[in-house]
Amino acid sequence: MDVDALVSEATARIADAADSAALEEIRIEALGRRAPLVQALRELASLPPDERRARGDELNRARKALEGLVDDRARELRGRELEERLRTDRVDVTLPGVVHPRGYSHLIEQTRRDILDVFVGFGYRVVDGPEVDLTHYNFDALNHAPTHPSRQVTDTFYVSDDVVLRTHTSPVQIRTMEAQPPPVYMATAGRCYRRDTPDATHTPMFHQVEGLVIDEGIALSDLLGTLDVFMKALFGQERRTEFRTHYFPFTEPSVEPYVSCHVCDGAGCSVCRHSGWIELGGSGMVDPKLFEFVGYDAERYSGFAFGLGLERIAMLRHELPDLRELWRNDLRVARQF
Ligand code: FA5
Repeated sequence: MDVDALVSEATARIADAADSAALEEIRIEALGRRAPLVQALRELASLPPDERRARGDELNRARKALEGLVDDRARELRGRELEERLRTDRVDVTLPGVVHPRGYSHLIEQTRRDILDVFVGFGYRVVDGPEVDLTHYNFDALNHAPTHPSRQVTDTFYVSDDVVLRTHTSPVQIRTMEAQPPPVYMATAGRCYRRDTPDATHTPMFHQVEGLVIDEGIALSDLLGTLDVFMKALFGQERRTEFRTHYFPFTEPSVEPYVSCHVCDGAGCSVCRHSGWIELGGSGMVDPKLFEFVGYDAERYSGFAFGLGLERIAMLRHELPDLRELWRNDLRVARQF
C-alpha cells in the first residue's frame, strides 16, 4: 500500500468535502474500521519485528495527519453551516405576530366574584347549597304556607312531590343555620329556577346572591347599613340607596333595596323605567319562626337576610337592555370585563 498516495488522495477529498455529511463519509472511508490504513495498522503485528516499527510509525503519522485534517475541515464546515443557518433562519421582527385570543370569564361569573368579594371583605363566610333541594328547605322551613302561590307547578320545577329545582337561594339560610350555632355571617350565590316566561328581565334559570347574618342585637339598621355599603361598593360611592317595605314569608319586616340609577343619576331614563331607582331584590329581618325550625334561641338572637338578582346587577353594571343578552353568546357582550 502506497501510504503517501493514500494520504494525498484523502487530503484532496477532505479539502473538497462540500458539507459535514460528505466529510463524515470521507472520514469513514479513510479512517473508519474498514479503511485500508486502519486495516494495515491492525496487520502490523504480523510483520517481522524489524519492519514493524518503521511501518507502524509511517501508518500512525498518516492516520494522525488525516485525523487532524478532518477535524480542521469539520470545524470550518460547521462554522460555515452555522453562518448559513443564521442568515436564512433570521427572524423578521416586522412580520405580523400570531395573536392568541384571550379567554374571559362570563359576565355572570365576574359579577358573582365581585359581589362575593364585597361580602368576604365584610368578614362573611361564603358557602354553597344544592340547586336541587327538598320542598322542606325551599318552602316549608321558610314559612311558606301550604297554599303559597310560588309552590304551584306552574311556578316551580318539580323533580318529585317533595323535590324541586330551588326557586331562590334562601334555602341555604336554613341549611346554614342547621349546620352551625349562631353567630352566622354567610353569603352564597348560585343558580335558581322558576317557570317564568323569558322576557327582558326574566329567564327560567337565573342567579341570586344571598346573605344571612344572625347575632345578638342585630337590628334593621344593620341590614340597611350593610346593603347601603354593598350597593355603593358595587355601583359607586356617589349612588343613593333607598328601602321600600315589602312582604316575604320568612322576613318581618321586609324591605326591597333600591339604588339610584347610575345611568341618569335619578333623573329618569329607560334603564330605570323613568323612576330614577332600580330594585335589586328582597331583604328583611329573619322571622323568629325560622329559628324554631333550626333550634336557635329567638329571645337571644336576631338577624337579617337578603337575596338579590345577580343578572339584574350584571345588567346594570354593563348597561345591558335585556337580560337575555347574557345568554346569547354575542362576543361583544362576552368580551366586556
Ligand atoms: C326572593 O327570591 C327572596 N328569596 C329574596 C329574599 C331573600 C328576601 C332573603 C328576603 C330575605 P324575589 O322573588 O323578589 O325574592 O327575587 C329576588 C330577585 O331575584 C328579584 O329581584 C330579581 O332580581 C331576581 N329574579 C327573580 N326571578 C327571576 C327570573 N325569572 N329571572 C331573573 N331574575 C329573577
